[in-house]
Amino acid sequence: MTDHSAPDTGEKRPALIPATPAGIARAADLLRAGRLVAFPTETVYGLGADATDDRAVAAIFAAKGRPQFNPLIVHVPDLVAAHSWGLFDDRAHDLATQFWPGPLTMVVPRPANSALSLLVSAGLDSIAIRVPNHPVAQAILRAAGKPIAAPSANRSGAVSPTTPHHVLESLGDRVDAIVTGGKCMVGLESTVIDLTGPDAALLRPGAVLPDEMERLIGPVRLSAGDPTAPKSPGQLESHYAPNAAVRLNASSAEEDEAFLTFGPDRFVFGGTTRLNLSLEGDLNEAAANLFSHLRSLDQSGARRIAIMPIPDVGLGLAINDRLRRAAAPRG
Ligand code: TXA
Ligand code: MG
Repeated sequence: MTDHSAPDTGEKRPALIPATPAGIARAADLLRAGRLVAFPTETVYGLGADATDDRAVAAIFAAKGRPQFNPLIVHVPDLVAAHSWGLFDDRAHDLATQFWPGPLTMVVPRPANSALSLLVSAGLDSIAIRVPNHPVAQAILRAAGKPIAAPSANRSGAVSPTTPHHVLESLGDRVDAIVTGGKCMVGLESTVIDLTGPDAALLRPGAVLPDEMERLIGPVRLSAGDPTAPKSPGQLESHYAPNAAVRLNASSAEEDEAFLTFGPDRFVFGGTTRLNLSLEGDLNEAAANLFSHLRSLDQSGARRIAIMPIPDVGLGLAINDRLRRAAAPRG
C-alpha cells in the first residue's frame, strides 16, 4: 500500500521543484507515489494527484478544505491516453481534434470498471477529461504515465493561482511539492462542456468559446448562464443516491439493512452486509472508500443502508454533505 503520510525526508514542505528534466522526473515520481504536486498548466496551476489512487484523490479534497466532493478534471497528455478513461463519441472526437491540447474540458461517460478513483468523479458515471497545452504539464503527464486529477491549486473559496507564489500562499505545506513553471498564460480555468447527453451543454465558460464549438458540433446549451439549471451535479440535492434508502446516524442496523460503519466495529452487530469506511477512524481513508463502499452495499440488494455517524470535521464535512444528499427525499 502506498504511504500517504508526509514524506519524512527532513526537507521543508512544500518542495519547490524547478521545471528541469530532473525536476520533472522527481515530480512524476512523487505523483506515482501518491503525493500531491502542484504544477503549471496554460490556464491555472493545478493541484495534481494520481487519479487512480483513492487515497491520493482524498488528499486533494483535504488540502483544498472543500466542504463538498466536487468532481475533478482528469489530465492526460493526448487523445490516445484520454481514450483509456472516457467514452468519446463523434462530437468529442471533433472537439478534441480541434481544441486539444488546450483549455477545454469534456465531460464524457465513464467506462464501466474504470480503474479511475470513484472519488475523482464524486460517484458520477461521467468523467471530465482535459489535455493541457503547457510544456511542463505535458512533460509531467508523460513522465508520470498516470492520469492526473487536478483542480485549481488553491484553498476552497480562494482565487485560482497563476503563479507558484500564489500556490505557496494558498496551500503552503498542504502540498508536497510545487513545480515552478512561471506564470500561466490563460489565467482562467478551462471551458467545461458536458457531452454525456444528446444536447451538448456548457458547464463553465472559459477561453474556448461556445460558438467555436458550435461550428463543429451544432448547438451548445448555455446552462452555465441559466440560474435555474444546476451549475454542477454536486449541487443537486438528491444526486447519485444509491437505489437503497439511506438511514443516517445509525448506531446499529436492522435485519434487512446493509451497514456502513466507521471506526472500530468489533462490537457492532446487525446488517446483512457490513463494510467499514475506516477501522482507524481516519477521515481521509473514509473519503477514499466512500463511493466504492456505497456502491458495493447498494449492489448487495439490501432495501436500506444504515450509516454510522461520521465526525463533522475535516473531510468529514464533505463526507456528511454527500451522505445527506444520498439520504435526501428522492425527486
Ligand atoms: O483549467 C482548469 O480546468 C484547471 C486546470 C488545473 O486544469 N482545473 C480546474 O479544476 O479548474 P476544478 O476542479 O477547479 O474544476 C472542475 C470543474 C468543476 O466545475 C466541476 O464541477 C466540473 O469541472 N466537473 C468535473 N467533473 C465533472 C463531471 N463528471 N460532471 C460535471 N462536471 C464536472
Ligand atoms: Mg477551482
